[in-house]
Amino acid sequence: MEYAIDTRCIHGEGHRLPDKNCAISYPIYQTASFSHLTPGHNPNGFDYSRESNPTRAYLEETVSSLENACDTIAFASGMAAIATLFEYFRPGDRIVLGEDLYGGVSRLIDRISEKNGYRIEYTDTSDPEELKKRVTPGTKAVYLETPTNPMMRVTDIRKAAEAAHSAGALLIVDNTFMTPYFQNPIDEGADLVIHSGTKYLSGHNDTVCGFLCCARKEHAEVFRLLSKTVGSTLGPFESWLCLRGIKTLALRMERHKSNAEKVRAWLLQNPEVEQVYYAGSGMISFTVKSRETAEGILRNIRLITFAESLGGTESLLTYPTVQTHPDVPEERKRKLGITDRLLRLSVGIENPEDIIADLARAFREAAGESGRGGE
Ligand SMILES: Cc1ncc(COP(=O)(O)O)c(C=O)c1O
Repeated sequence: MEYAIDTRCIHGEGHRLPDKNCAISYPIYQTASFSHLTPGHNPNGFDYSRESNPTRAYLEETVSSLENACDTIAFASGMAAIATLFEYFRPGDRIVLGEDLYGGVSRLIDRISEKNGYRIEYTDTSDPEELKKRVTPGTKAVYLETPTNPMMRVTDIRKAAEAAHSAGALLIVDNTFMTPYFQNPIDEGADLVIHSGTKYLSGHNDTVCGFLCCARKEHAEVFRLLSKTVGSTLGPFESWLCLRGIKTLALRMERHKSNAEKVRAWLLQNPEVEQVYYAGSGMISFTVKSRETAEGILRNIRLITFAESLGGTESLLTYPTVQTHPDVPEERKRKLGITDRLLRLSVGIENPEDIIADLARAFREAAGESGRGGE
């Protein structure tokens, strides 16, 4: 019998006791290397922690179970997972990318991987007709986020998978914002799933990690070879922290979402707020009427922290144009709406009334600073 996802967050597939000594919390195998009995014979199959490590392996099994993947590789960060993923492609390969992506992915593609000679096309993957037109025969992959960071655009994964597969391309989905608790891209046709595990999966703003989940064994084999060769894999302690975070994923996601819905309702009735972008989970982006207001709010929040990142227990407010998306070309930012009036809020799991009270005071004090009085 398959367990429900909230049970799998705690027990994985639950087919075996996770540790040979029956520890309830999986141990941290803080070792670089493993002894061999005779040449070529190592009883548990572990040689060297860059290649594989029991704590990381248990985390990988857990994430595979949550994402319905055949295998998952845990990386030192979300960007390590994405950079290793792009090693799969060859010069001349045509890759269609969502135009609204985490800024680090644009930096990787436009500045670092530029030498690799991929033929990159950015498009609005949330428009199925547009996507179909762009995914021409011979395209190797479609890479997208849904919802996107920071504009919360939503792509229909099934339609994107149809468009990609009819052209012989892979569909790769970054599922960081929704997490497997709200969305399973592999079930909807994705071939590969990316996570910044730094965010909701670890969930406590204390760990940096990433995942690449594979729907098929053939891809898992290629990416295991790549990750062990380039050495972008996750260490044992961070693996354990992420495992511990995942145990409460279900509870946290419910609370992030219900808090975000309350904050969204408050923002919608605030006359200083022009537009609210929300697509579920705990993430909200919104625009205010001026740059001064945006900066004033950032200066005056006290409970909420002005910081990059998202998906943790603490509420964080981010200024995408400066913090997460400075490397996206100005023209693309303008087209998407990533302006100096846009703020992105990762709604934490504090009491929602305290989060709203902090925002209300920051809005009031920002208005006071610009001489316009309070609400
Ligand atoms: C949607 C998304 N994907 C990937 C990344 C990169 O992950 P990491 O910061 O763990 O390298 C981020 C980082 O913010 C992100 O928001």
